[in-house]
Amino acid sequence: MKILVIGSGGREHALCWKIKQSPLVTKLYCAPGNGGIASLAECVDIKADDIVALADFAHQEKIDLTVVGPEVPLVAGIVDLFEEDGLKIFGPSQAAARLEGSKVYSKNFMKRWDIPTAKYATFTDADKARAYVGTQPYPLVVKASGLAAGKGVIICQDVFEAKDAINKIMSEKIFKDAGNSLVIEEFLVGEEASILAIADGKDFIVLESSQDHKRIRDNDQGPNTGGMGAYSPAPVVTPALLKEIAQKVIAPVIAGMMDEEAPFKGILYAGIMITKDGPKVLEFNTRFGDPETQVILPRLKSDLVELMLAAVEGRLFGKELEWDPRACVCVVMAAGGYPGDYATGECISGFDGQWQDVVVFHAGTKKEGSRILTSGGRVLGVTALGKDIGLAIQNAYAVTEQVSFDGMQFRRDIGQKALKRAKAH
Ligand code: AMP
Ligand code: GLY
Repeated sequence: MKILVIGSGGREHALCWKIKQSPLVTKLYCAPGNGGIASLAECVDIKADDIVALADFAHQEKIDLTVVGPEVPLVAGIVDLFEEDGLKIFGPSQAAARLEGSKVYSKNFMKRWDIPTAKYATFTDADKARAYVGTQPYPLVVKASGLAAGKGVIICQDVFEAKDAINKIMSEKIFKDAGNSLVIEEFLVGEEASILAIADGKDFIVLESSQDHKRIRDNDQGPNTGGMGAYSPAPVVTPALLKEIAQKVIAPVIAGMMDEEAPFKGILYAGIMITKDGPKVLEFNTRFGDPETQVILPRLKSDLVELMLAAVEGRLFGKELEWDPRACVCVVMAAGGYPGDYATGECISGFDGQWQDVVVFHAGTKKEGSRILTSGGRVLGVTALGKDIGLAIQNAYAVTEQVSFDGMQFRRDIGQKALKRAKAH
């Protein structure tokens, strides 16, 4: 089979790495790819959001299966476009991708189907939103409804901050049209976890749990980022809790989307806050998480290509997945200044050794001759398996010690929450 992966980050490197292991694959392409992906796949110079050029390429090359990494092409309708052309593609339709592309849609959907989430109100009028935030308890969360590359959520400590957030999103339009409508919601307290499920429109399989580290600095300090590291499994998600999330969140989404004539195919990612009143949904994404994918796929023993094909063809029912019981940890090495402005073009050294149970996924790199240069904010994801979470952490950090590029920064506490829980038992 000829496979095309769309995207250029650490998630897509992990997808290519896993897909390449499938005996079903004869040729792997990635558009546009990165410096690490280039060693596994033929990189094609088409941007991930140029969905017409991607469909033309898939048509010309007779691609048997396309796998979409990022959300922008999904929300733009890439799956509908490919399917109209008779091309197989793994991901949700434009209508189903509204679960991620519109927070207003997603919150109203959860209300219709009684899925646990923070209490909220939605607004298209800035004056009404400003009046509302004067009546609410704090902290309060203000969210741009549309896609904002993970930056559209503002946690406000008082009414002044809330009004400022409304002004920035609705009047100054810092997230452009993504800020045409707003969700304002209750602040939830608890520990977060990411629960991903693969779905074929009617059936689904929940994947192993994971946890992201969104803030830039140790102990969850500083601004939010795309994700500075992850681990799997997340011990905060006990087997009983995972079952509860499958029943109260994933199952009603799949059933509800089918009922609303937007059947969900692809990866449903539920960002969950585990509160004292049980799990509540923070957000849905309609794709693999980044960096969650980097810690989930090394633990998946089953053939990912066969699994994705089964989802595309509506054959997930009765399938079971096989998992490596070991823990996996990914430490993201980022450019200095990230998530603000950062330099690119720095030469990276020390990461091309062979280590047992460690893979270095590239996120923002490019190949120039024999050198690998930084080209993004998140640069590498050093990913290690270990018999337990402590050993996985040790294995990953041992490799980060050898890698270097000017200005690099990374968190030193990836996995510590899981380690504390493991020690408490
Ligand atoms: P989202 O993109 O909606 O998941 O929001 C990004 C991050 O903001 C989440 O991972 C949480 O850390 C935080 N967040 C979002 N909504 C809430 C909420 N209602 N209460 C507390 N934190 C939240
Ligand atoms: N790890 C967060 C995301 O993929 O959106």
